[in-house]
Amino acid sequence: MKNHKVFLTMAIPKVAIDRVAQIAEVQLSPYGVPCPKDMLVKELAEAEAVIADGSTIFDAQVMKAARKLRIVARFGVGFDNVDLKAATERGVYVSNTLGVLSDAVAELTIALMLALSRRLIEAHAYVKSRKWTELSDFPLGIDLSGKTLGIIGLGQIGMEVARRASGLRMAILYYDVVRREDAERLYEAKCSSLENLLKDSDFITLHVPLASKTEKLIGRSELALMKPTAYLINTARGKVVDQAALWQGLKEGRIAGAALDVYEVEPIARDEPLLQLDNVILTPHIGSATAETRTKMALTAADDVIRVLKGEKPLNLVNRELLES
Ligand code: DGY
Repeated sequence: MKNHKVFLTMAIPKVAIDRVAQIAEVQLSPYGVPCPKDMLVKELAEAEAVIADGSTIFDAQVMKAARKLRIVARFGVGFDNVDLKAATERGVYVSNTLGVLSDAVAELTIALMLALSRRLIEAHAYVKSRKWTELSDFPLGIDLSGKTLGIIGLGQIGMEVARRASGLRMAILYYDVVRREDAERLYEAKCSSLENLLKDSDFITLHVPLASKTEKLIGRSELALMKPTAYLINTARGKVVDQAALWQGLKEGRIAGAALDVYEVEPIARDEPLLQLDNVILTPHIGSATAETRTKMALTAADDVIRVLKGEKPLNLVNRELLES
């Protein structure tokens, strides 16, 4: 009988489960994702560690009930589902897997940008539906080369997007709370106000965390500043964009199009009006969903759990205040 109990709110690659199982009893949630609060509270009564998806809510009440809990290891980067203040007050570490997923999210961002610029989804449907009867009757796309990409949030993922976009010979503007001289030097990125970035970019991509300051960062008035030929890409968090305002802007052709991997409500509601539009590409929150990245994420989360169970500090700590304590 192992002394420690680790709860998983969703399935992760087996290699990581096996690693944790060497020192702890691992229990995979049978309740679906997100895990309902009453079930979470029940399971966390005994668990010392939890490996958590991005939608199960760890609020102050859950934290209080989880008396033995020492770490919430996010299997992902965003921690907007975790009450960080409550965790810190209780001395519970919160870790994430930022370092190992930024390439995958950046790759998806570039894939979506290319899909928009070259009309890939339409082109595929056109050929499959046997509509291709003449050589030159498919609508033209646009080049990425020479266009301006506006990056909102130049953290680790934003930087990986900048690196790739600079390889595609795009000009880069960025808006962030901190100046990134490394990006300016490496990718000739130019620091911008949000307003100017919105006005001057041909593509705009979001890479900010969801927090009170970033909720609905892109709403009606921000969309109104964008060029009518511009595209918006969101692989960050759905609530960073006012989805109803985006729908309106797309429907009225105020911007050319959008590509979304994340939504205000996930999975997307069956009657979500965005599903009716042709100028939007929708993917099911797959930013980090590659075999290699998911394995690295699982091992990163597992290793931090093991560290904490052994009395060490996690490497990928989010509430860094706990380092001093
Ligand atoms: C993340 O890494 O935060 C992903 O969006 C999945 O939650």
